[in-house]
Amino acid sequence: MTTQPFEPFPFHPADPADPRPGHARGDIREVVHTYRGFHDEDHGGDVAARKDHYFEMVKGYYDLATDFFEYGWGDSFHFAPRYRGETFRESIRRHQHFLAARLGLKPGMRVLDVGCGIGGPMRSVARFSGATVVGINNNPYQLEKAAGYNREAGLAAQTELVEADFMNMPFEEGEFDAVYAFEATCHAPDKAALFRQIHRVLKPGGVFGAYEWCLTDRYDPESVRHRRIKKGIEEGDGLPDIWTIPATVECLEGAGFTVREQEDRAVASDPETPWELPITGRELSWTGVRRTKLGRRLTWAAIKVMEAARIAPKGTMEVSQFLHAGADALVEGGESGIFTPMFWFVAERPA
Ligand SMILES: C[S@@+](CC[C@H](N)C(=O)[O-])C[C@H]1O[C@@H](n2cnc3c(N)ncnc32)[C@H](O)[C@@H]1O
Repeated sequence: MTTQPFEPFPFHPADPADPRPGHARGDIREVVHTYRGFHDEDHGGDVAARKDHYFEMVKGYYDLATDFFEYGWGDSFHFAPRYRGETFRESIRRHQHFLAARLGLKPGMRVLDVGCGIGGPMRSVARFSGATVVGINNNPYQLEKAAGYNREAGLAAQTELVEADFMNMPFEEGEFDAVYAFEATCHAPDKAALFRQIHRVLKPGGVFGAYEWCLTDRYDPESVRHRRIKKGIEEGDGLPDIWTIPATVECLEGAGFTVREQEDRAVASDPETPWELPITGRELSWTGVRRTKLGRRLTWAAIKVMEAARIAPKGTMEVSQFLHAGADALVEGGESGIFTPMFWFVAERPA
């Protein structure tokens, strides 16, 4: 799974057996255009359309983006605050261990990972805490990868994977001792409804902890620049909308939770090494180079050649470009302080 900085991008060549739409034809342009249409305000794309069609929009987004994320970021699709002297990977692991420690996860517990991606956090949390972790995800391609990596890591018996929509969870009332999410609940079309689902599957007295994508109090809805950044993040990252911090807390309380901890971890971290540093292009470390502007250009050049040679499906270049535009919007959101991907909270379902 670990790749070198300029190892060719691991494209999935045209494969008639590949269930992802478009892939059988070696052409993903239709999926790309459907996805982008949800964000195209001149052609009916708006928050309401994205909320109504959240399932297909988010699933389509991860069909397109998963390989890019894994290539550029690793097996954990989230940010982390970083301290001086820490490597990118160390900061990601610490952020995961922080969550497991703060939620008091331990052997014997059954814990739910909401929107588990390809399972980087669940493997880390399972190893660190000894708890059994169940991951829910609506993207079969990611789940297939997660299952393989869990097996390779020797964690198949301590982890479970469930393909389902987290807005409609197939779990019993009070089934989990704890629930957590790493930057996944931001994809929900209705946060209050999702938090009610989580409240239902959590045992009374159990805790739900998450890192949430939010607009901070510096966001000014009247500012054209702020609105442009918000839209760039939504399109680049498969989001129906972005909530503010107070709206998120209100949704938790409305769902019946008591909020025990809340903190924007982006503010708490070292200003010399902000969360957005790895995508600013300012960091020229050997492993970070793929995420820099130069690294992106080299990736684009490789994609162009591979599309022309029909090794990569047609439309791959467009995916890479809108993901990078999203990364630029994230950097602007971080530098201006109007956005955080790590509003941290611990909420308890009262006993
Ligand atoms: C930014 S990724 C984070 C993945 C993982 N938590 C990590 O940090 O590596 C968001 C995840 O949420 C999942 N997701 C989004 N909407 C979902 C839904 N309605 N039901 C289940 N999973 C969903 C996506 O498929 C993706 O795996």
